[in-house]
Order: sequence, then structure tokens, then C-alpha cells
Amino acid sequence: MENPTEKRKIVLSAIQPTGTPTFGNYLGALKNWKSMSEDYDCLFAVADLHSLTVRPEPQDLRRRTQEMYAILLALGLDPEKNIIFIQSHVHQHSELAWILNCSTQFGEASRMTQFKDKSEKHPENVNVGLFAYPILMAADILLYQADYVPIGADQKQHLEITRDIAERFNTIYGNTFKIPEPFIGKIGACVMSLQDPLHKMSKSDPNPKSYISILDDDNVIVKKIKSAVTDSEAKVRFGEGKDGINNLMSIYSCCTGLSYDQIEKDFDGKGYGDFKVAVADAVVEELKPFKEEYGRLINDKAYLKECAEKGAQKAGRLAERTLSKVQKKTGLFQL
Ligand code: TYM
Repeated sequence: MENPTEKRKIVLSAIQPTGTPTFGNYLGALKNWKSMSEDYDCLFAVADLHSLTVRPEPQDLRRRTQEMYAILLALGLDPEKNIIFIQSHVHQHSELAWILNCSTQFGEASRMTQFKDKSEKHPENVNVGLFAYPILMAADILLYQADYVPIGADQKQHLEITRDIAERFNTIYGNTFKIPEPFIGKIGACVMSLQDPLHKMSKSDPNPKSYISILDDDNVIVKKIKSAVTDSEAKVRFGEGKDGINNLMSIYSCCTGLSYDQIEKDFDGKGYGDFKVAVADAVVEELKPFKEEYGRLINDKAYLKECAEKGAQKAGRLAERTLSKVQKKTGLFQL
């Protein structure tokens, strides 16, 4: 039994408001946020500063930030029990990020695969923010002394650099930051594109058939899953060279809780058509309560603003404790 005098562990995670989250974001991160939100002291942020690295249209960024905030509440995250906030509302994130920039080596930041991928994809805008992106992410995490960070597999390397930065800082200046652990689910940690299952499902993919957006209409979800790429074996089983089916099995397993063995048994002798219908039904069912709640919340702008204000105040108080410690340790002259 949990000891009531023991301090509850702290969880922090964030998502960028670069578009409506995909079912990959949902299974890799958001669904775990919801389940962790009951048992831990959780902070969840809309990482709007991170989104500036791809230079969004200002009016789009403003709208998407509010939509993403509504999405987090619609998922069932309770703003009274958890701290749900918008990153740029808590100025300590940018301030700590600068200090951590000075504790990060150019070489280690250059090794980040996401930086390399994004700079190759967008050679016209390889800005310094894109390069320093993982260091801002480290600041997000370390400010709150987080124990666990629920993320998809694609963010694992950023967690590793966060740990390295924290350990180096602690060695130089004395114990300051808790060293966070990633929390990556066993299944659903990397949901793949429906059209190219060797690549992750991504909301920035130019082909909308490759991803399910969590606000897609039911009939659109069904169509996208029916047109998902599979293989010619026509047997529902998890195996090598069956990336499309493996991906659908992982989606189905996350929605229904069924093991791969059970799914194979249930669909023994049935074709991919039947399986795809079942996967689509499971996804539609999974998203139903969320979509209804989102429809209600997005029209209640006053409530969203009130929650965001309270979230920023609560996060700011916690963030200030760590930032002030860091300022003192690094020798910045405090008034
Ligand atoms: P972002 O906004 O790209 O994605 C949000 C979360 O979704 C996960 N994810 C996936 N999981 C499974 N399958 C996929 N296809 C898939 N695509 C995305 C991501 O791993 C992530 O957990 N840098 C972060 C945002 C961030 C952050 C933080 C996260 C900023 N500060 C501090 C944790 C802690 C990002 O761009 O996530």
C-alpha cells in the first residue's frame, strides 16, 4: 500500500500546438497522461514556444494553442487536480533554457536526430531555435523536478540529453535537479503512418490519408483505416515484413486491451477487410467521449481562459523555486 506520508511523484509532459494531434500522439502520449493523472502530481503543457521553430502564421499559432488547451481538458485531464498550462505563460521556461544552453555542448546538441531530420526537410529555415529545441525541452522538465516524463519513442533521445544536462549541472554546481525518467508505453510508443508504415504517423505529413487526426469525423477514420497499406499474406498476425498489419494490431491492442495472441486467435481465418473494420470501430469508440467533450469546451472560451490563467499561476510558483535556486548557484546577482 502507498505510504500516505511519502511525497507523490511528479509527472511532466508537453505537446506542440502545430496541428490537431494524431492518433499517434494520442496513443504514444496523451492516453498515458490521462492514466497517470490520477496517481501522480501532474503538469501538462502546450509547448507553444517550441512551435515557433517552424515559424507558424501568428493567427494559426494563437488559434491552435487554444484548441490544444481545449483538447487536453477534453481528454479528461482535471485542471483542479493537475496543472495544465501554456508554456509561454510561464517565463521561467525561457530563462532556464538560456542558462542550460550554457551547460550544453554544441557537439551533443548536434547529434539529435530530430534536428538533423528537420533541417534536411526544411533547409530554408534551419534556425538556432531548432538547434536549441531539446534544451528548452530540458528546461520544461527540470524546472518542475519531474520524476517521470510520458512520451512517445521519438522523444527518447531528447530525454537522454535532458538527463545529461541535469547531471552535468549537478556535478558543477551541486545537487539542483532531479534526474527524470522517460515513461514510454510498451505498445503504441510509435504509431506508424497508415500509408508508409516504416515512418512514424505525423501531423505534419503532407498526405492526410497517412494519419488519423483525433478530431477526424467517424466516416473519415473508417475510410483512412480501410485504405491503410498492408501486405499480400492476408493473415492477421504480428511478424517481420508485416509493418502495416503490425501497426494496425498495435492500434487495436491499445484501444481494446487485447494481446497480440488474442487478436491473432480472434481473426484466424478472417481477411484484412474484417480486421480493418474492427480496428476502425475500436478507434471511433475510443475517441467518441473525447470528441463530444471537445465540441462543448471549444465554445467556452471564458472557461478555457480561466483554466489557463490558474494553470500558469500554479506552474509559475513551482518554476520560480527551481529557477531562483539555479540563479543563485550559477552566481547571478539576485536582488
Ligand atoms: P510532439 O508535439 O511532436 O508530440 C507530442 C507527444 O506525442 C508523441 N508522438 C507519438 N507517439 C507515438 N507514435 C507517434 N507516431 C507519435 N508522434 C508523436 C511524442 O513522442 C510526444 O510525447 N518536443 C515535444 C514536446 C515537448 C515536451 C516537453 C515533451 C516540449 N517540451 C517536455 C515532454 C516534456 C514534441 O515535439 O512533441
